Amino acid sequence: MSVHNSKDIRKVTTHRLNEMKSRNEKISMLTAYDYTMASIVDKAGVDVILVGDSASNVMAGNVTTLPITLDQMIYHGKSVARAVKRALVVVDMPFGTYQTSDVEAVQNAIKMMKITHADALKLEGGVEIIDAVKKILAAGIPIMGHLGLMPQSINKYGTYTVRAKEEDEAEKLISDAILLEEAGCFTIVLEKIPAVLAKKVAEKLTIPVIGIGAGRYVDGQVLVLHDMLGMSNGFSPRFLRRYADLNSVMTEAVKHYVSDVKHQDFPNETEQY
Ligand code: KIV
Repeated sequence: MSVHNSKDIRKVTTHRLNEMKSRNEKISMLTAYDYTMASIVDKAGVDVILVGDSASNVMAGNVTTLPITLDQMIYHGKSVARAVKRALVVVDMPFGTYQTSDVEAVQNAIKMMKITHADALKLEGGVEIIDAVKKILAAGIPIMGHLGLMPQSINKYGTYTVRAKEEDEAEKLISDAILLEEAGCFTIVLEKIPAVLAKKVAEKLTIPVIGIGAGRYVDGQVLVLHDMLGMSNGFSPRFLRRYADLNSVMTEAVKHYVSDVKHQDFPNETEQY
C-alpha cells in the first residue's frame, strides 16, 4: 500500500482520486470555510477540501444546514478556492438550490463554479435528484454524491442517528450509489452508516467512496475541521477523533490577553511606536 507523499505538490484532480483508489492509497478530506484555514489544511497535505454546508452550523451558528444560502456558500467557496494550491476543492450545493428543477439546478451549479473557481460540487441524494445530477454533469461540472445521513433532509428523518441499519434502506442506498456512479459522479460520501454496508458499497463501485462515520473499509475519510481540531464543544459522536484541543488553547490565549490588557502588561515598550 502506498501512502501520500507530502512532496507531491501536483494539483489533485478527480482522475488522481480514482488512481488513489486503484492503488489502495486512502484519500484524506477535511472541511474548510475560509481562506486562512483552507491555506493551513492545503499546506498540511490534505487531498480534498470540502466547503461543506456545515458552514451553516460551524460559521453561522444555525441548528441545521438548511438556512445557508447560495450566495453564502459562494462566499465561502471563493475564499477557500483562493487559498488552495494542491487539494481538490469541492463546494456543497445548499438546500433548495438543486431540488426544484433541473434547469434551476444547472443554473445554480454554473453560477457556483463561475464565481468560486472550485473544482467540483457536492449534492445530497440518490434517485430523487438523479436528473439534476445528470444535467449538471452534462455541463461539465464534476459531482461528488452524498448518501446515508443527509443533513439537508434532517426534518424528514427527525434524528441524526445511524442510517441504513434496516435492509430496505441499505438496499436503496446501494442502488442509489450505483445510479450515481453510472451517471458519472467522481466520488460518493457516505455519512453515518454501518461499516459493513459502507464496505460493500466501496467494493461494488469503481469510484472512490469517502466515509464520515462509515468505518474503515472505505477509500477515504472526511471530518469537519473544527470538530477534529477540538474547537467545537459538545459534539462527540463515536466517529469523531479529536487531533487537538484548540478550544482550550484558544480560551487560554484569550484569557491571557485580557489579563495582560487589564494589568497594563500589553503593550510593552517594544510593542509601541
Ligand atoms: O457539510 C459537510 O461538512 C459535509 C460533511 C459532513 C461530509 O457534508
